[in-house]
This record gives sequence, C-alpha cells and structure tokens, in this order.
Amino acid sequence: MKILGIETSCDETAAALIEVKAGRFQVLSNIVSSQVDIHRQFGGIVPEVAAREHLKNILPIVDQALIGNSWSDLSALAVTSGPGLITSLLVGTETAKALAFSHSLPLLAINHLEAHICANWLNRPIRFPALALIVSGGHTQLVLVKKQNQYQLVGETLDDAAGECFDKVAKILDIGYPGGPVIEKLAKEGDPQAIDFPRPLLNKNGLDFSFSGLKTSVLYFSRQPDFKEYKTKDVCASFQQAVIEVLTAKTLKAAKRYRAKTVLLAGGVAANKALRQNLASQVKKQLPSSKFFHPAKGLSTDNALMIAIAGYYRFREKNFTPWAKLKADPNWQLA
Ligand code: KG4
Ligand code: ZN
Repeated sequence: MKILGIETSCDETAAALIEVKAGRFQVLSNIVSSQVDIHRQFGGIVPEVAAREHLKNILPIVDQALIGNSWSDLSALAVTSGPGLITSLLVGTETAKALAFSHSLPLLAINHLEAHICANWLNRPIRFPALALIVSGGHTQLVLVKKQNQYQLVGETLDDAAGECFDKVAKILDIGYPGGPVIEKLAKEGDPQAIDFPRPLLNKNGLDFSFSGLKTSVLYFSRQPDFKEYKTKDVCASFQQAVIEVLTAKTLKAAKRYRAKTVLLAGGVAANKALRQNLASQVKKQLPSSKFFHPAKGLSTDNALMIAIAGYYRFREKNFTPWAKLKADPNWQLA
C-alpha cells in the first residue's frame, strides 16, 4: 500500500510518498521546499507570505513526490491539519480535499506533533510505553506514548518553546535566522561553562519547562557595558548548554516516573547534535534497559514523510476523516 503525505503547517511545503510492505516502510520520495531564505529577510515567518508561497509550490511539490506513480496506486492521502499557522494549514488541507475528491481517495487528518514523534517510527523497534520529548519552534512537550496512537501529555513549557528560545536568542545576538542551526554552529567553538545562565525549573519536581527567563537573561547579559569583551561563541555555547541540561533532566525524570522502555526525541530542535548526544549518554547511564532514538537525518525539522508515517497508523485503524469534516485547526492538542 502507498500513502501520500502533505505538510504545510509552517514555512515548509512538503510532500512524501511511502510504501508499506509487511509492516516495513519504504520511502519512495520525500520532497521539502523550504521558505527559510524568504523569511530570513524579515527575521521570522510572515504568515501571509508563507501561505502565498505554499500556494505557488504545493501542486508542483505533490507532482514531484508522486515520482511517476498514478493516483490510482495510492491507498490514502494524509495531511497536516494542525497545530500550525492557520493560513499555511489551509493551503494543505484544502489542496488535500480537492485531490482526494477528484481521485476518490480517503483522507487522514494528521496532528503535526504526533507526526514529529512518528518521524522516529522508520523501521525501528519501538517498545512501549515510550516517552517523547517534542521540541519544535512552537511546542515543548513531554508526551507519554502508551501505545501506537495513544498519547498523554505529562509536561510542557509554561511560556516560550525551546526552538522559539533559540530563534529569539539568535535575534538578540543578531547572528541570523533560524536561530537553532546558527547557535549550534557557533556553540561548537565556544565554552559552555563561560557564562552561568539560569536553568529554569531544573530542580523543581514537576515536568514543566520555562524558557522565557533564560532568553531574558541573555538579553540583559548582551546589554552589559562589557558585553563586547565576551565572545558570541561562548554566549551561544553557554546558552545551548543551559537549554540542553534542562531538557535532558526533565526528560529523564519523566522517563523514570513513567517507566519508559523507549525515550524519543522529536521536532526541529532534535536536529541539535549536542542535545542528541547528551540525551543518548544520560539514557544509557541512568536508564540502561531503555533505548533512545532520534529522527534520521532530515526528519527532525518539518517534512511530509512523518505525516505519511503517522497516516499509515491512522489508516491501519481505519481512522479516516470524512471529506466534509477535514479542517485546519491551528490549536489542535495532541493530548
Ligand atoms: O519542527 P520545526 O521544523 O517546525 C515547527 O514545527 O515549529 O522546528 C523549527 C525549530 C526552529 O525554532 C529552529 O530554530 C529549531 O527548530 N532548530 C534547531 C536546530 N535546527 C532547527 N534548534 C537547535 N538546534 C538545531 N540544529
Ligand atoms: Zn514541526
């Protein structure tokens, strides 16, 4: 069986085609068209511009993703319905509705956060319960995956998301957009112990996060008269270290509390190698009988392959979305 996935929740227009044979996924195509160069000049995503770019790109991207397959080869069409930017989501959902209607295909409405978790599902032995840390531009959540398609939110950020914090700190330091990859690159040459930035809620028993105070600390630090004496690389390394320590400690706390057999990292910030390494080594040390997974290359940030994979599991449950009921929901909660 073959499933086409479509993703337009933010500033990536993406389509992917998977084939599933005997429960194993084969990636037939995975096309992502990023608008990052367009939004960079504004220092962030401009929703109306994003929607117009999606409109221009969506059909050519879908055509590319089909790579010669005909519509009658497909079993279903999976599309991100939320959460995300409403103007961006609408392009994906309305396109999917039109395509599904004209080619008589069933539709699968996919939650973008669920799909980020499913980016880990690519032919790996996931044992349940699993504990997923979702860290993206708009969300920071700890989600208990009790079994396939069954989620429980156990912790989340009370203010900024981790990715948002990377982006805002990069803006404060005026080093580029998006902040995550730029900070990670500079941090490699800096000293993570140079500046003692706060680790918000680190020693609290709860599983929630807070990143706005850390961002404000970097802002005040950068306004000090002697700031120029510090190296931007050290600020990046020290900031990144503070984020990683908090994310790792809370994830391990949750994994122990819920006796997770697998620990998963998901979302755009999962592309950060220092975070992956720290989580991997702490899981090995503190939870030796659990496994740690992060998405394969290119599957941390937004893509449609994860939408198609999530679609397969919805398809298996015959959890189709009636044509008239498919709608864009910018605030769709995973759990
Ligand atoms: O999941 P994603 O592609 O889009 C949303 O669903 O939001 O995540 C984008 C976020 C941005 O905030 C970006 O700065 C962050 O992921 N990001 C990173 C890295 N690559 C992307 N953060 C830290 N290190 C990275 N290497
Ligand atoms: Zn995302």
